[in-house]
Amino acid sequence: MSPVVLACSAAVCPCERPELCQQIRGERDFEVFVFDVGGKTWKSYNWSMVTTVATFGKYDAELMCHAHSKGARVVLKGDVPLSDIVDQENRTAWITERVNLAKTQFMDGINIDIEQAVEEGSPEYHALTSLVKETTEAFHREIPGSQVSFDVAWSPKCIDKRCYDYVAIAESCDLLFVMSYDEQSQIMGDCIAMANAPLSQTLNAYDQYLNLKIDPNKLVMGLPWYGYDYPCLNLSQEGICSIAKVPFRGAPCSDAAGRQKSYKWIMKQVNSSLSGRLWDDRQQAPYFNYKDEKGQIHQVWYDDPQSICPKADSVKSKGLRGIGMWNGNILDYSDEAVARQQTAAILQFWKY
Ligand SMILES: *[C@@H]1O[C@H](CO)[C@@H](O)[C@H](O)[C@H]1NC(C)=O
Ligand SMILES: *[C@@H]1O[C@H](CO)[C@@H](O)[C@H](O)[C@H]1NC(C)=O
Ligand SMILES: *[C@@H]1O[C@H](CO)[C@@H](O)[C@H](O)[C@H]1NC(C)=O
Ligand SMILES: *[C@@H]1O[C@H](CO)[C@@H](O)[C@H](O)[C@H]1NC(C)=O
Repeated sequence: MSPVVLACSAAVCPCERPELCQQIRGERDFEVFVFDVGGKTWKSYNWSMVTTVATFGKYDAELMCHAHSKGARVVLKGDVPLSDIVDQENRTAWITERVNLAKTQFMDGINIDIEQAVEEGSPEYHALTSLVKETTEAFHREIPGSQVSFDVAWSPKCIDKRCYDYVAIAESCDLLFVMSYDEQSQIMGDCIAMANAPLSQTLNAYDQYLNLKIDPNKLVMGLPWYGYDYPCLNLSQEGICSIAKVPFRGAPCSDAAGRQKSYKWIMKQVNSSLSGRLWDDRQQAPYFNYKDEKGQIHQVWYDDPQSICPKADSVKSKGLRGIGMWNGNILDYSDEAVARQQTAAILQFWKY
């Protein structure tokens, strides 16, 4: 390529001050890793705490400029069908395209979000490990100080048939975002509504990662800022909600029988529900029952400050790298007093 072509392809900085287009290089001890799915609610984040924003919505130059002004990284989303990148040339082409996009958008890295089923030892298994390693090498080389993260299921034990080489992947990238939610994606026992992220199951799974000798300083705990709303086929006297059998990756039922609902929606429903807020001691999670306009009974399981607190505490006690959430946009950031108080109660867990 001639220098002329290079000059023509150089991106124009969209920020008011050109230095805001410089990628972030500094490292902070504690990660607060936020997934942003679009819109402008990022304006309400507490930017003195946010360290990384993974942008899953459309590119927002204003968000990039703002994050950089606060010393926070903004990273791309990375997803590709694994069967396409078993081929080395295809893999390199994908990585080059992502690095170039990051450069033209002044981004600080990439979050690789591959949630596909993979069989241990298959071509896709090895291709995925290589993808993470080669992506990290390319980003670090081309964008000094950039960050490459990889999203993993709540447990390394082949959840949703995601039998990845977790140890090699952890070693190859900067951090793993542990998605400590959707823990009912494969229900093997009774088909009933249960907590999105039961406490002891959630915490035991971190020990599974640590038992693989994965460095705790590479793990970010991902919390759900949403819950599941299940239509009940039957609500028993004891309050057990039977759910429709929706199979998923080898399990007879799953949380796909329910619908994900934001914390904002949940907080608007709970007080006027049939039951009000209930608490399950075994799973250490809140839930409630409500009747919809057609008379159908639903059970909603979610997380709130009481269920999040012991999880956030263990970030510190287990020496993890930080905390994050799916997703940053779904709190109620309005000015209304009750909303402000509820949102502040959740946001307190960012600081540790
Ligand atoms: C943002 O976080 C900082 C550091 O923890 C804290 O001092 C400040 O009160 C927070 N701001 C708001 C608006 O919550
Ligand atoms: C390369 O990737 C494309 C999609 O980008 C796919 O259609 C094609 O089959 C892949 N080739 C190989 C050899 O995997
Ligand atoms: C529904 O719940 C009621 C009350 O607990 C129980 O008597 C009944 O057997 C249940 N029906 C089904 C189909 O599970
Ligand atoms: C719901 O009830 C709780 C407990 O009584 C209260 O603290 C909260 O403000 C109420 N929420 C709304 C939206 O009114």
